[in-house]
Amino acid sequence: MTGLVLGLETSCDETAAAVVANGREVRSSVVSSQVDLHAHFGGVVPELAGRAHLERIVPVVAEALAGAGLGATSPSLDLVAATTGPGLIGALLVGVSFAKALALAWRLPYVGVNHLEGHLYASLLEDPDIELPAVVVLVSGGHSLLVKMTGPRVYEVLGETVDDAAGEAFDKVARYLGLTYPGGPAIEKAAAGGDPSAIDFPRPMLREGLDLSFSGLKTAVVHYVRAHPDVSGADVAASFQAAIVDVLVAKAMRAALVSGARSVCLAGGVAANGPLRAALRRAADAAGLGVYLPSPAMCTDNAAMIAAAAYHNLRADGPTPLDAGVAPGLAFPGSRLR
Ligand code: KG4
Ligand code: ZN
Repeated sequence: MTGLVLGLETSCDETAAAVVANGREVRSSVVSSQVDLHAHFGGVVPELAGRAHLERIVPVVAEALAGAGLGATSPSLDLVAATTGPGLIGALLVGVSFAKALALAWRLPYVGVNHLEGHLYASLLEDPDIELPAVVVLVSGGHSLLVKMTGPRVYEVLGETVDDAAGEAFDKVARYLGLTYPGGPAIEKAAAGGDPSAIDFPRPMLREGLDLSFSGLKTAVVHYVRAHPDVSGADVAASFQAAIVDVLVAKAMRAALVSGARSVCLAGGVAANGPLRAALRRAADAAGLGVYLPSPAMCTDNAAMIAAAAYHNLRADGPTPLDAGVAPGLAFPGSRLR
């Protein structure tokens, strides 16, 4: 088996398809973002997301197949995979139903993938020589986890958020400050013109264990801006971002120390954040640890990471039965809190 996998990702607001060989070689990766569709509403509108996935899935898959040099009828693939959760139910159903239909038509196995596990493979795809075990800081719009990854499918959750995800905090604070959706890139842009030490926002749970908490930080921003209506928005954005970066970097380094990891990685949408990347690199260099920072396109949702995860899932567990559905509330394997 050559291990040529077509992966689909439709869990939220990106319609994506990719062809990946042997879990590591990206032959094509197509992402159609719906950001413009949802920006007007300040967040993802589930019904609109599902409809947009329906409109886009056929051309996106066709482009991914063509990009990999494959024909659209009976391409020589070995597996079709899709994200089964976590995510929006209507959005997930589009990718999963389409993947199952293709698997049936092309007589191929189908594998369902946990979106969060998918994010872990992004670093491996771009840096196959990554030194394992690695602590992966998985920070997205819906989840924030510290995971020790010893190899494909061998992970241990070391810490996780007890309330909001890091990306959720970026999105909520951005909304409060009147910035555009999605909030992370908007805060990063606004912060570039501000002073990160202007306001001493709390660093939640900085010295306590490996779990994370961001809801109190978000509330602290709201209280501060209410009490200081004339404060510079750029200073608030920069100071808030600095607090998140400090916490994530400190926790990542502590997690690496206690777990004996040889490197640290970033994954998930928040991993696209420039100051976070720079600070983690500095801290890892100082500690003599390897550091792997996926390209911004590999940090945010894409289907290459889903295809890579599916390759390993098939080898370990075999195909997913076609009567298995979607799982909007799927947790990361081994998660204690959700
Ligand atoms: O992984 P992702 O694309 O989708 C989910 O699975 O959630 O992550 C999206 C999250 C959003 O909360 C977005 O605001 C955040 O990632 N994000 C960023 C940046 N780019 C995206 N957060 C901080 N800085 C960025 N540059
Ligand atoms: Zn994601």
